[in-house]
Amino acid sequence: MGLRGDYTQAGADFSVEQDWSRYTAEEHALYRRLFDRQSKLVPRYACPEWIRAIAHLDAAREIPRFDQVSSKLRAATGWEIVAVPGLIPDAAFFTHLANRRFPVTVWLRRPDEFDYIVEPDVFHDFFGHVPLLFDRVYADHLHEYGKGGLKAMRLDAVKMLARLYWYTIEFGLMTTAQGVRAYGAGLLSSGGELAYCVDDPKPRRLPFDLERIMRTGYIIDRYQESYFVIDSFDQLMRETAPDFTPIYARIRSSQ
Ligand code: PHE
Ligand code: CO
Repeated sequence: MGLRGDYTQAGADFSVEQDWSRYTAEEHALYRRLFDRQSKLVPRYACPEWIRAIAHLDAAREIPRFDQVSSKLRAATGWEIVAVPGLIPDAAFFTHLANRRFPVTVWLRRPDEFDYIVEPDVFHDFFGHVPLLFDRVYADHLHEYGKGGLKAMRLDAVKMLARLYWYTIEFGLMTTAQGVRAYGAGLLSSGGELAYCVDDPKPRRLPFDLERIMRTGYIIDRYQESYFVIDSFDQLMRETAPDFTPIYARIRSSQ
């Protein structure tokens, strides 16, 4: 885990300084190219909440300064960004979310990873996740997810809960007045899958079903075979509000 980042400076909560001055001109230029490519796609494929939020972020020119974005976020929904060296352990991740802190990786991918990267980098984390934290309902949902994560650890159910994150926060679709749109960060930050998930006839697009999601394994190195579609963040909030304890037990006993 976390093979790539520098974990030597990380605190007990795995946070680091962003040290914005260390990004090179080449990195800012690569970030800008990634941003430009996705900007051509999002008007057609991103959900309206994401499109609304990115406009206020002034994030097109260079890798954003997390402290400046955190000030805006705190005012909007009480969230902030915390810089991390890369993937972090479950307990640290859930604890950050449960305190309305979203971990964002500090490093940017290499130029040869322009089209594809397995680990999250600053472009994925920032472009994909941060804009939606300006949406009140999404922001509250992710807070609940963090608390639910700590609970799932106690119940030894993280694997089931992680599938929920995968099929919503990372690869979720939403029905809108304009048709199906993406709100999952793995889609919003992807050069190829963002159009694929909406337009291609091949993948399944299933209505949101909590228990089915928790039973559905996923692949991390190819386009998804199944997407789950919500009607709204209100629906996501509502359907994840019940106590998962009996659901975890039911799934576990039938497998
Ligand atoms: N309702 C979930 C539980 O009882 C917590 C949760 C809320 C998990 C929202 C994910 C998203 O465990
Ligand atoms: Co992500």
